Amino acid sequence: MRVVSGIQPTGKPHLGNYLGAIRNYVALQDDAHAAGGECLIFIADLHALSMAHDPAELRSSTLELVATLVACGLDPDKAILFNQAQVPLHPEMQWLLNGTARMGWLNRMTQWKDKAGKNREGQSVALFTYPVLQAADVLLYQATHVPVGEDQKQHLELARDIAQKFNNDFGTEDAPIFTLPDPIIPKEAARIMSLRDGSAKMSKSDPSDMSRINLSDDADTMAQKVKKAKTDPEPLPSEEAGLADRPEAKNLVGIYGALAGQSAAEVLAQFGGQGFGAFKPALADLLVAKLGPIRDRFVELKDDSEALDAILARGAAKARERGKPTLDAAYRALGL
Ligand code: ADP
Ligand code: NA
Repeated sequence: MRVVSGIQPTGKPHLGNYLGAIRNYVALQDDAHAAGGECLIFIADLHALSMAHDPAELRSSTLELVATLVACGLDPDKAILFNQAQVPLHPEMQWLLNGTARMGWLNRMTQWKDKAGKNREGQSVALFTYPVLQAADVLLYQATHVPVGEDQKQHLELARDIAQKFNNDFGTEDAPIFTLPDPIIPKEAARIMSLRDGSAKMSKSDPSDMSRINLSDDADTMAQKVKKAKTDPEPLPSEEAGLADRPEAKNLVGIYGALAGQSAAEVLAQFGGQGFGAFKPALADLLVAKLGPIRDRFVELKDDSEALDAILARGAAKARERGKPTLDAAYRALGL
């Protein structure tokens, strides 16, 4: 079992990132470790070049993200924690895969279509080709499992298509160059919505800070955001079916359940019939209880750039070691 996943260093990590991604990384790090496998988690700083970015901000966001990952429970002794930019094997592998990836495949990527919109001519080449870098990110390490959000499923399928074509064109039946990775996609409940609008995803790119709980928020800020969260005037239903047309209520119940390790039905068995005046303080308390220790560790770690850089350097050295044999095999297979 080899688990590989990346997370972009843009903006402040929030509750959605934690419940939808980071918390799963921590569980997978332990699963992989127990199975005698390994988990590689990288900060996708090279991906940041696909959009306009501020160099100083990229550096500080990268360090903040390492601090966050460690604060959430990723252990640099168990998982390999690094940033892409320190492992040039990634862009090197991307170039080798560029010969195999087809323009038509990339043109079909919905994220490219969404992000480019009507102005395709004005986009960076990196925005178009970054799914190939994503393929390189996982194929380089012979990943067997890749945890991704629903939105990244298509990119992982592209990685499999590239691996398959490369194996067909340049490998032999008994010596394929690349492993075809399987996605690990969290359940529907892992999609956390904005606190201001139950139909929008909780996201760093939402201009309103009140729309999300940041992992770096202090207890008062968290409580305030929950208190101001958009809701309807009805009490909570006692059955899950009663949440069907109430996206804001459904989201808050989902957050409570995800943090408490309970199903929506279990949360409603406890809070059904109660109004938000009672439920919101309970949710705020739970958030503070679960995220408070993470925040405290984050605050301890975040300013020690030397220690954070050391974690990244150590992880990068291990990652280079893990990736080198596959990169070499790909070069050889291509006649290089
Ligand atoms: P954002 O949308 O805030 O910019 P990213 O796109 O950087 O977040 O996503 C980083 C990881 O967090 C991905 O694995 C993504 O699927 C997950 N993620 C982001 N937002 C949410 C959310 N609201 N609910 C669940 N998971 C999320
Ligand atoms: Na995003």
